[in-house]
Amino acid sequence: MDSDEQRYVVIGERAEDSDTIEELAYEVLVGLSSEPKRLPSRFFYDDVGSRLFARIMRLEEYYLTDCEHSILERSGPEILSCMEGRAFNLVDLGAGDGAKTMLLLRHLAEIGADVTYVPIDISEGAMKGLVATIRKELPSIRVEGVVAEYHRGLQWLVRQRSDRANLVLFLGSNVGNFDRAQARGFLGRIWASLRSEDRVLVGFDLKKDIEKLLAAYNDREGVTSAFNLNLLERINRELGANFVTDRFRHFGTYDVTSGAMKSYLVSLDPQDVRVDALDRSFHFDAWEPVHTEYSYKYLRSDLDSLAHDSGFVVEQRFEDERGWFADDLWRPRKGGDDG
Ligand code: AVJ
Repeated sequence: MDSDEQRYVVIGERAEDSDTIEELAYEVLVGLSSEPKRLPSRFFYDDVGSRLFARIMRLEEYYLTDCEHSILERSGPEILSCMEGRAFNLVDLGAGDGAKTMLLLRHLAEIGADVTYVPIDISEGAMKGLVATIRKELPSIRVEGVVAEYHRGLQWLVRQRSDRANLVLFLGSNVGNFDRAQARGFLGRIWASLRSEDRVLVGFDLKKDIEKLLAAYNDREGVTSAFNLNLLERINRELGANFVTDRFRHFGTYDVTSGAMKSYLVSLDPQDVRVDALDRSFHFDAWEPVHTEYSYKYLRSDLDSLAHDSGFVVEQRFEDERGWFADDLWRPRKGGDDG
């Protein structure tokens, strides 16, 4: 095969549907009509937002990326030994630019493992970039990407390749955007697709010194602020709105009980914002907040109960040297093999 197009499949005729302009319009309508106002964080990641997030990952204050990088660097071989001697798929949910996965793949290439790298991503554009990167950096690794929504792609994969085990990665504290109930639901649906020989590796940000948390989501350079405000700019671009982003400020705060870092955009003045696509305006009072993101932080005991409640057994927990971040290796508990 010599073209990138042959390195991935598109599942469902309209794989990008869950992220259309209509979907954004609906969320803006519902979210800005709510009391208090809110907008969903999954719309952060258009091209501009993805570039800003890549900058966040390189920030000194945003420790999460460094922590997980060091875990995978130090413990990668030990993590991967759970698939030793078997043909398996390394399934990547939310690979992004694939930098962290690359650490694992490099090791697998070195030991000549019988592995197929299967990134699953809703965005065909992101998939093309990722496939091209892997082909260039690690030409010996077999790549078979799936352009689909995570659960649908995973379900399809497990039905297709019943001869191979699956190690499913959900890295980067992406699970942190879900509240506890949503996280149970998300992981439970992954559980439903897996067999007992499969494994998942999930990245969780752990509860820690509050100052470190606040700094990570309120960086000095203002990249996180730009990332948050880009949501309003995206609504301007895609829905013909007239948000003046200078008239909103980013605010990141921490709820010690729920463990949620919460991001807001706060209106600095009384103002009305028109959204052409909805043919209406929304009023903002001075100092009225719009909630935009949760990033949940966990206790180790939370991880144990989350695993249990979503049908898994914790096999091993891999932490960085400071104990700030955990990559948890879980085994699905299924029919007669529970332990
Ligand atoms: C990509 C969801 C893991 O919540 O830490 C970074 C996104 N938001 N800074 C996170 C984010 C603000 C990030 N995740």
